[in-house]
Order: sequence, then C-alpha cells, then structure tokens
Amino acid sequence: MKILITGANGMLAKSVTNKLSNYEPVCTDVRELDITDKDAVMNKIIEIKPEYIINCAAYTAVDKAEEEYDLAYKINSIGPKNLAIASKETGAVLIHISTDYVFGGNLSLDKSYVEEDSKYPVTVYGKTKLSGEEEIVKNADKYYIFRTAWLYGDGNNFVRTMLKLGSSKDEISVVSDQYGSPTNADDLANVILQTIEKKIPFGVYHTTNLGFTTWYEFAKKIFELSNISCKVNPVTTDEYIKMMNIVQAKRPHNSKLSKDKILKEGINIPSWKESLKRYLKEECS
Ligand SMILES: NC(=O)c1ccc[n+]([C@@H]2O[C@H](COP(=O)([O-])OP(=O)(O)OC[C@H]3O[C@@H](n4cnc5c(N)ncnc54)[C@H](OP(=O)(O)O)[C@@H]3O)[C@@H](O)[C@H]2O)c1
Repeated sequence: MKILITGANGMLAKSVTNKLSNYEPVCTDVRELDITDKDAVMNKIIEIKPEYIINCAAYTAVDKAEEEYDLAYKINSIGPKNLAIASKETGAVLIHISTDYVFGGNLSLDKSYVEEDSKYPVTVYGKTKLSGEEEIVKNADKYYIFRTAWLYGDGNNFVRTMLKLGSSKDEISVVSDQYGSPTNADDLANVILQTIEKKIPFGVYHTTNLGFTTWYEFAKKIFELSNISCKVNPVTTDEYIKMMNIVQAKRPHNSKLSKDKILKEGINIPSWKESLKRYLKEECS
C-alpha cells in the first residue's frame, strides 16, 4: 500500500514515518513537495498514486503567525485544500492534523471540547488551521481530521525545554492556568496506524493522550520522572507574560479535548503519564 507523508522533517512526520515503516511510506519535505503549490501537489499524487496521504506539513509558529498571516494561511489552509482536491481526484484518503486552537479555549473547566463544539479561534494560527479543516470538508470525499494538542516528540518541545532548564536552574516558573493533554507524537502516529488498519469511519476526531493536566503539573512530572530537583513555581499566564516581558498570541485557558468519539471506535490511546515515562526513558537513555 502506498502512503504519502508531507512535511517529512517535522516532529509528527518523523513519528508517523517510523510507525508506518512496514508500509514503506513516501516522505516528502517542503523542497520535494510544497503543499501550497497546487500543480505540484496534483502531479505528485497522480505520480505516486497513494492510497493514503498524511499531511504533517503545517505552519506551527503560533506567535510568529500573528505577524505572518498570509504565509500561515497559505500553508495551513491553501495547502490542505490542494491536498483535498488531489485526494478526491485520485481516490486517496486524506489524513490531516489539526489543533485545539480551533476552539476559543474559554469553555468551563469541568467540560472538555467535543468535535462538533462551536469554533472560535482567537489566534491567526487557530484561524488558519480552522480554515484548513473547512477546505478539507468542502473538497475531499474521504478524510480524517485529527485534532491534537501539546505535542512532543523528536523536535523542539516542552519536555526537552524543561529537561534543559531543569538541569541548569534551581527554580523555574511554569503556567498553571492552562489545561490540556500532553501528547506523545508516537502515540498520535499509532492512532493513525490503527485508523488505517481498522478503517474507522471517516470524519473529525480528537486525539491526544488520555487524562488532563496543566503545564505546571506536566513540568513537575517531567522533573519527578527524571530525578531533577529543580523547584517549579506555579504562575498565571498573565504573571508569566509580565515576568518574561514577552508578547505572545493568546493561549487557550481550556484545551481539554474529549476523546470519547475515537475511543468508541476501539482505538487504543495511552495516558499522558504512561507515555511521558516511555518518552523520558528513550530520551534519557
Ligand atoms: N506541535 C504541537 O504542539 C501541535 C499541537 C496541536 C496540533 N499540531 C499540529 O500537528 C501537526 C504536526 O505538527 P509538528 O509539531 O510536527 O509540526 P512541525 O514540527 O513544525 O513540522 C511541520 C513541517 O511542515 C513543513 N512545512 C512547512 N511549510 C510547508 C509546505 N509549504 N510544504 C510542505 N511542508 C511544509 C515544515 O518544514 P520546515 O521546517 O522546513 O519549514 C516542517 O517540517 C501540524 O498540523 C500542527 O498544526 C501540533
């Protein structure tokens, strides 16, 4: 079976490529396939004739996007549109990755977002990712959209940042008023593999590791599991922005995504704590 993976150098793409290695995926980085180039996308998909296209390419710089709307829109909306049109033309299934940022993040904390909840993205990144989802729904026949959050894997990510800070500082401050689920990229890749093997119904699914936490609790768990003695101080998002003297795009207060829909399909997803343990074992060995 032929599988085309875009954005090959990205964090998730590396996990997906490893996880699907038995299928010998064709991996393309931006130089081999720029997803914003409509003709190049169509030609590549006609040439390769994949059964599945997994779009791991994206503009992911959340803060920079506030200044680069056009580029973010091109990559996060026009790119998926091109892939959707080509997938429909060739009969391929399109697997696309989206984000908790399509929601406003103001949902009451005793609730988690379900797939159909109203979308109120408040950042350029979130707006362009939502637009990408809409283009896929409009232009593709057979698609999966997996909304994920707080991804870590083989690339710059929160866990690696904490490990670096924890071994060079006695104490750090971490935001304690944003809630979500850390997600190991290998587990998301495994969800994609299970989706292909089980052929679950097409549609939109929320996919993060199970369980919810805050960045503060996440950092504490990273240190606890790595035997790092650095003290973690909880701060609010506003306090953190003042303390660091930074300007950043608005972060969602509530990023909790309900996984009920995908779990009902029999897809296996580990808890965030279990996955973090596994990641740290590999990362620190
Ligand atoms: N990271 C997270 O916490 C997170 C959270 C929620 C959702 N997501 C979503 O998960 C997916 C994977 O994220 P990630 O963290 O793996 O992203 P990533 O590491 O930033 O990888 C994205 C890749 O896309 C490539 N790319 C950019 N423009 C392209 C284009 N026009 N054509 C082809 N490739 C292009 C990039 O190449 P260059 O590096 O050369 O630019 C990069 O290798 C994205 O859809 C993202 O929105 C991520």
